[in-house]
Amino acid sequence: MATLKEKLYEKIEQWRPRTQRLVKEYGDVKVCDVTIAQVIGGMRGVKCLVTDISYLDPYEGIRFRGYTIPEVMEKLPKPPGCEMPYVEGHVYLLLTGDIPTENEVAEVAEEFKKRSQVPQYVFDMLRAMPRDTHPMTMFSAAILSMQRESVFAKKYREGISKMDYWDPYFEDMLNLLAKLPTIAAYIYRMKYRSDTIIPPDPNLDFGGNFAHMMGIDKPYDDVARMYFILHSDHESGNVSAHTGHLVASALSDLYYAISAMLDGLAGPLHGLANQEVLRWIQGIYEKMGGKIPTEEEMKKFVWDTLNAGQVIPGFGHAVLRKTDPRYTAQREFALKHLPDDPLFKYVDLLYKVVPPILQEQGKAKNPWPNVDAHSGVIQWYYGVREYDFYTVLFGVGRAIGVCSNIVWDRALGYPIERPKSVTTDMLEEIAGIKKS
Ligand SMILES: CC(C)(COP(=O)(O)OP(=O)(O)OC[C@H]1O[C@@H](n2cnc3c(N)ncnc32)[C@H](O)[C@@H]1OP(=O)(O)O)[C@@H](O)C(=O)NCCC(=O)NCCS
Repeated sequence: MATLKEKLYEKIEQWRPRTQRLVKEYGDVKVCDVTIAQVIGGMRGVKCLVTDISYLDPYEGIRFRGYTIPEVMEKLPKPPGCEMPYVEGHVYLLLTGDIPTENEVAEVAEEFKKRSQVPQYVFDMLRAMPRDTHPMTMFSAAILSMQRESVFAKKYREGISKMDYWDPYFEDMLNLLAKLPTIAAYIYRMKYRSDTIIPPDPNLDFGGNFAHMMGIDKPYDDVARMYFILHSDHESGNVSAHTGHLVASALSDLYYAISAMLDGLAGPLHGLANQEVLRWIQGIYEKMGGKIPTEEEMKKFVWDTLNAGQVIPGFGHAVLRKTDPRYTAQREFALKHLPDDPLFKYVDLLYKVVPPILQEQGKAKNPWPNVDAHSGVIQWYYGVREYDFYTVLFGVGRAIGVCSNIVWDRALGYPIERPKSVTTDMLEEIAGIKKS
């Protein structure tokens, strides 16, 4: 059996001529035009990034390496007696494009096990931070603190061929991912469970071990696996993925790049939206004295939020134009495991009420729910009620996709990213408002 690294190298060798040919022979072919609205408006729809790890169709949602979410959940191997696949298998899929066998999954799990020991100085640093520091700040700082461990940074100093950059990035990827469940669970137990740390169990898989260290019984292991897989990647243009790609394009190593991408994920319009959803629902819950609002009452809460100039968290998307399949996957899990939960009933009611209101208001291009509209409710049900922590869970998952992308960026020799900026004067000239 070829190891993951051997398999990856084989794929890289096959892929390189395609990229080289495109640049050499077709480099002048136009991909798209860019309008002033796009230049000012956050580059929406500008086709200027390449990734083969995932693709986001506006109407179909995400495909990981060509597979839809239900296909990924069905095809990847699962731990015995579990509903959700091994996260390790998803790592293999994202890196190679192939569905791994049980043995190939076991090899990745073994690699993670060997590399999972978190240096003591990371815990010491976390303990030195004020306890009320946001968990995303702690998570990002913990990863940044390990930058001294980077294999790539060391190899670069020693001198390494550009063709081989992907190899130490791959080593950094496995070393870093292997430690993320322990760091995330440590932050959780230190901050919110009176500093009662649960040591890892080396016999468990990525998701199972995370649930164990969180101190939460089954089926939270499946929630963890589902959550990490669903959040892993959403093509390259979203803030976290793009930040990781951009930072690493300067040959900053993975520790720098992943810490930076987490800082982008921590924004309320991006990953932090899942915390905002729960905060918002809790507000309604309190106003309603714990009872489920009627449809009319819920509509009023939604309009009140919009009329106060705020967004409805968990709804809308920059690319998607239908219900996010990551929302649907979580909804199916909730319908099976927590159909009577009061907060799930809220989410269910919002699914009914919000889209027509956003359509009536006529601003949001996508009135449908995104992944964040559902994530918090499942966590809440299983006892993770400190919603500040939800984005850390998102971050563990997203790191898998961003790392995979960066390894491939180096394998295909993508250069440092450097778009060109213009001045407002120049745009006015281009628009014909002002003469030069
Ligand atoms: C995700 C999001 C940031 C995408 O932004 P975008 O690409 O600019 O979205 P649109 O092009 O549809 O925005 C057009 C307008 O609709 C508004 N809009 C979009 N989603 C909205 C929502 N959920 N509630 C209210 N208004 C919304 C925008 O604020 C914008 O208003 P403006 O013209 O006054 O600035 C946006 O939908 C949003 O803020 N959603 C809520 C936060 C969230 O759930 N984030 C997680 C995303 S995975």
